Amino acid sequence: MSGGAGPVLRVKGLGVTYGALVALDDVTWSVGAGEILGIIGPNGAGKSSCYDAVTHLVRRQGQVFLKGEEVTAVAPHLLAERGLKRAFQQNAFFHELTVLENMVTVLQDRYGTSLVAATLLPFSEARRRRAAVEDARQRLLRFGIPEMYHGLKPTNIPYGTQRMLSIALAYGSGAQALLLDEPAAGLGGVDMTHLVNLLLSLKNEGLAVVVIEHHMDLIMSVADRIVVLEQGRQIAMGTPHEIQSDPRVLEAYLGHTQ
Ligand SMILES: Nc1ncnc2c1ncn2[C@@H]1O[C@H](COP(=O)(O)OP(=O)(O)O)[C@@H](O)[C@H]1O
Ligand SMILES: [Mg+2]
Repeated sequence: MSGGAGPVLRVKGLGVTYGALVALDDVTWSVGAGEILGIIGPNGAGKSSCYDAVTHLVRRQGQVFLKGEEVTAVAPHLLAERGLKRAFQQNAFFHELTVLENMVTVLQDRYGTSLVAATLLPFSEARRRRAAVEDARQRLLRFGIPEMYHGLKPTNIPYGTQRMLSIALAYGSGAQALLLDEPAAGLGGVDMTHLVNLLLSLKNEGLAVVVIEHHMDLIMSVADRIVVLEQGRQIAMGTPHEIQSDPRVLEAYLGHTQ
C-alpha cells in the first residue's frame, strides 16, 4: 500500500503485562492522516504503556500496522525511521546542549555524516553543518520556540516552551504519526493556547496525531475521536460528544478524583 486512504497507524489487540499486573488488555484503535486521536483515562489506566506497546519498547501482544504494513516485529528505532515518532511524558533533552543543538542532533538522520567524511571533506562537512543549523532554526520557529531561546540550555527556557521543544524534538526531521504523552502537563493560559494551535496545525498538515491527555478541555476541543482506558481496558471510543455522555466514562471518572 502506498499511503492512500487507510489509517496511518493501526493497533489491534494490544496487551502488556508487567509480571502479574495486566497494564493493557486488548486495545484496538487507528488514526488517519489529518486526524487527532485522544487517549484518556485515570492515572495508571495504561495510557503510557499503550505507547510503549505501539513503539515496541516492551514485550506485548497484538499487532501494529503503519500505512497498511504490519510492523509488529520492527525495532523501535526502525519504526522512528519509518515515521512513527513519540514524545515522552517527561521532557527528555540533551541538557549540556543548547536548544538549537538539541534540534540539530535530532536532525542527524537527515544531515548525519561519518567521521571519515568529516575529516577528509571538511568543506562539504561545514556546508552540511550550516544547512542542518538553518533547518533546525526554522523547525524551532515553526514549533513556536522563539529565536531568543535557541542559544540557551533547555532547562533555562520557560516551562511552556520546554513542552513545545519536546514536541519539536519528537517530530524531528518529520513524521507520519506522532504520539504525544500529556503535552499539556503543567501548562496554563497562553501556553495552552499555543499548544492547541500547534496540534491543530500539525493535523492540518496531514499528520496523524495521538494525544494522551489529562486535561479534558484540551482533549475535548482538539480530538476528532477519543479512546478511553480504564485499568488497561478500552471502555469507550467515540467523538468527544459521544464520550462526554457515555455512562461508562462518567463512572470511570467519578470513581477516581482527577
Ligand atoms: N515498567 C513497569 N513495570 C511495572 N509496572 C509498570 C511499569 N510501567 C507501568 N507500570 C504499571 O502499569 C500500569 C499502567 O501504567 P501507565 O501505562 O504508566 O499508566 P498511565 O500512563 O495511564 O498513567 C500502572 O499500574 C503502572 O504502575
Ligand atoms: Mg502516563
